[in-house]
Amino acid sequence: MQQRYIGSIDQGTTSTRFILFNEKGREVYSYQIEHKQIYPKPGWVEHDPMEIWTNAGEAVRRVLGDNNVKPEEIFAVGITNQRETTLVWDRITGLPLHNAIVWQDTRTAGIAEELAKDGGVDRFRAKVGLPLATYFSGTKMRWLLENSSEVADAAREGRAVFGTIDTWLVWKLTGAEDGGAFVTDVSNASRTMLMDLKTLSWDEEMLGHFKVPAEMLPSIVSSVPAEPYGYTRKDGPFGAEVPVAGILGDQQAAMFGQACFEQGTSKNTYGTGCFMLANTGTEIVESAHGLLTTVLYRIGDDDAVYALEGSIAVAGSLVQWIRDNIGLIEKSSDIESLALKAEDNGGVYIVPAFSGLFAPRWRPDARGVITGLTGYANSSHIARAVLESAAFQTREIFESMEKDAGIEITSLKVDGGMTVNNLLMQFQSDLLDIPVVRPLVSETTALGAAYAAGLSVGVWSGIEELKKHWMEDRRWTPLMSAEERYEKYRQWNKAVERSYSWVD
Ligand SMILES: Nc1ncnc2c1ncn2[C@@H]1O[C@H](COP(=O)(O)OP(=O)(O)OP(=O)(O)O)[C@@H](O)[C@H]1O
Ligand SMILES: [Mg+2]
Repeated sequence: MQQRYIGSIDQGTTSTRFILFNEKGREVYSYQIEHKQIYPKPGWVEHDPMEIWTNAGEAVRRVLGDNNVKPEEIFAVGITNQRETTLVWDRITGLPLHNAIVWQDTRTAGIAEELAKDGGVDRFRAKVGLPLATYFSGTKMRWLLENSSEVADAAREGRAVFGTIDTWLVWKLTGAEDGGAFVTDVSNASRTMLMDLKTLSWDEEMLGHFKVPAEMLPSIVSSVPAEPYGYTRKDGPFGAEVPVAGILGDQQAAMFGQACFEQGTSKNTYGTGCFMLANTGTEIVESAHGLLTTVLYRIGDDDAVYALEGSIAVAGSLVQWIRDNIGLIEKSSDIESLALKAEDNGGVYIVPAFSGLFAPRWRPDARGVITGLTGYANSSHIARAVLESAAFQTREIFESMEKDAGIEITSLKVDGGMTVNNLLMQFQSDLLDIPVVRPLVSETTALGAAYAAGLSVGVWSGIEELKKHWMEDRRWTPLMSAEERYEKYRQWNKAVERSYSWVD
């Protein structure tokens, strides 16, 4: 029998991947391309939308070309993406009107602050599940309309449209200015602050607060659509018509890829940042402990499934920062051997509050600190502290998650680029005092989008079938004493407090 595949474009913060999976959910071919991080000012982060589109196309062409795969062998393609990152383009010319403003960007602090004056940062939580923060797309859209005359002019003339990366890629793939599908899925829409979690539609009041005209926004669709959103163009990277049939934000996609379909199941992804989500079923749980309420997915016309989420802005990107900005290591993977030269962190803690602190503390006024420095500290202690910061931040989220969801998490499913780091995974297990478990397919984000597209076109019968694909690769179990765990976490908390109130 001829092999057939399900394709997945995983457009991340640092790179774009195209991966083909087989019908058992195993990765067969992939190609990955990094894109530029543009830092116009401290705290500002942008991406070039055309570079992202070009890279996505190139990744597709390479996978097909290098492995002699014909587009007819692909059942469907799904899209997963860095979330919240906001684009604005001209629907007539198909050209961007501004660089994309990336989720980590803090330029909109003033907008968030102004809106919080009346009712505090949680004033919209009940409706949209999110606190007022620079993180989400709404503030970024308003900033673009108020600060770019090109965007404002095009908006006045009815040419400008907004989207997150999923919207941009689907539109480009399915025809762009020549009839491209203009959609976003519920999981991405739930990160804008503009969608009502209950009705799953753009909310007039929220559009008013962020001054976004409804005509500029895509239609909100299901993550697993009853019918494909559209078909790739013959003159595009696929060179034929392939159904585009699934969209999930990257963290929701990782939940899908980890088969977290049951209420109470959870995972933590260690990539650029760290993102832990717990499935709360069809119930919308409002967090009392600094977590976000978000849409996990929607399949066809079924009720949407929701999640609680703890978002950490800086995790793997701290490893990159130590590599690129400080030059302590040459490759990301060198961090482990350097860290292993020391027995422990030597009392050094790094709080990477580069964009303020996200969940559960939400402190936009915080900035990064290195604490506990003495003449004894060396590069190995710093390397340890880099890795440990991801685990400490995860513990904070973990505790909020148990309180909010009222569940006891007895083991943690993990994925993402940092989970190849044995030292970190062991430390994480030690710090949480539960087993940490990594699945066989490490590209869970891409897999999740492939699952969505495959479900839509009938490659798989349903989520029960997908659950059977999940297999354990490796497990770490706790070895640390209770006293040591307590003491380290206590020190961490002191370090975090030192990062507060840095920005006046
Ligand atoms: N051996 C390692 N030890 C620790 N961290 C590592 C190691 N190898 C890679 N990383 C980190 O993992 C991150 C990449 O992980 P991954 O590819 O999952 O990221 P990602 O979040 O999917 O990226 P994107 O944000 O582009 O989607 C990088 O930040 C990198 O510094
Ligand atoms: Mg990713």
